Amino acid sequence: MSKISHSPPRGRWRCGLTALIIPIIFVYFLLASWSASGRDTNKFWPGEELEKLKMIRTHLRKINKPPIKTIKSPDGDLIDCVITHQQPAFDHPQLKGQRPLLEAPPSPVRPSGRRYEKRGGVGVSHEDFQLWKRSGESCPKGTVPIRRTTEKDILRASSTRSFGRKMTSKHIVRRSESSTTGHQHAVGYVTGREQYFYGAKASINVWAPRVANPDEFSLSQIWVISGSFGDDLNTIEAGWQVSPELYGDNSPRFFTYWTSDAYQATGCYNLLCSGFIQTNNDIAIGAAISPTSSYEGGQFDISLLVWMDPKHGNWWLEFGDGALVGYWPSFLFTHLQSNASMVQFGGEIVNSSPDTHTATQMGSGHFADEGFAKASYFRNLEIVDFDNSLVPPSNLQVLADYPDCYDIQSGYNSVWGNYFYYGGPGRNEKCP
Ligand SMILES: *[C@@H]1O[C@H](CO)[C@@H](O)[C@H](O)[C@H]1NC(C)=O
Repeated sequence: MSKISHSPPRGRWRCGLTALIIPIIFVYFLLASWSASGRDTNKFWPGEELEKLKMIRTHLRKINKPPIKTIKSPDGDLIDCVITHQQPAFDHPQLKGQRPLLEAPPSPVRPSGRRYEKRGGVGVSHEDFQLWKRSGESCPKGTVPIRRTTEKDILRASSTRSFGRKMTSKHIVRRSESSTTGHQHAVGYVTGREQYFYGAKASINVWAPRVANPDEFSLSQIWVISGSFGDDLNTIEAGWQVSPELYGDNSPRFFTYWTSDAYQATGCYNLLCSGFIQTNNDIAIGAAISPTSSYEGGQFDISLLVWMDPKHGNWWLEFGDGALVGYWPSFLFTHLQSNASMVQFGGEIVNSSPDTHTATQMGSGHFADEGFAKASYFRNLEIVDFDNSLVPPSNLQVLADYPDCYDIQSGYNSVWGNYFYYGGPGRNEKCP
């Protein structure tokens, strides 16, 4: 009875041999092709390219922290749930080994006690404005959702070093004399001698403007600024942006930015360097916003507040009514350690087209005079005073550096408080 099993029929033996040989051949070819590609690496990847790839991988290992869970967004983004004290901020020498502050800062209060009605545009809550949450998945308590950076993201940037940074000194409103290439703005701002600010709040209409060239962007945001316009400019910025270079698509994304040396060596977007400490497990910075507004259709806006915690001096970011996103520790800054000297709200685009003006849109791509549901808006503009009160800006001024390309018109009413419409199409008859 055991004979058969001891000497299997030839057919079966051959079959067994084949089964053994095929994997061996497969492994052999795999090894051969692997070692060949290894050998050929220097042939096909010039030393410089190889170095670049190595740098990118090292950089990715540094900024992408090991997740305990990953959520796939419908747009292809991967959202990593990272243990809160392992997020990039805690790589900072001054934050190593620490944990985020648990104590929430006191919210600024309106002395009048008034609440703004939500009429006109629909304010979206922090649960409802992010595309990745459509999956119904969420990040567990004790983690923060972080948009994973890919090799492709970095390859789109001009260098690994510049990835996630804004390399420019012309970022804040300043008209360049001869050429229209560079950053262009349509903004409302408050500033003044001996005037100090401790925060800013606004509801920002969200659109998906066209960005005509891959190295351009279109954003709408709040700026909190201090220092001179020289090398010591400190800014905190938050809003939405369309940036094909940074994200690889044309969706508006919720973003943050900071610098303490006029966009030179410090600071970055989102969590792409150590600095901003995220405390919220429900909001992913850099993730796509959905829904967005449509022309003569539904209008959506996000409400953002950036303000200084009077006790610790850290600058906090709040989304909607009461969702704390996280904070920028006071020590990141020089001037912003004490106060802000200017607050700015509005749109900015980059024009990289030297001959004709870019067709990159700002806001909705329509001029301010078209008004509601056509032009983009900022409503309920407020600033935070020295005593942590939320008050209307007393002397809001508006400025568009190229009003034939993008413009701005401000107004006041009892529902929207201080507001403005802004934006434009870029290239048109008057902006050739
Ligand atoms: C505001 O900050 C500046 C530093 O940028 C400082 O010189 C000034 O004294 C501060 N003012 C107040 C009232 O804290």
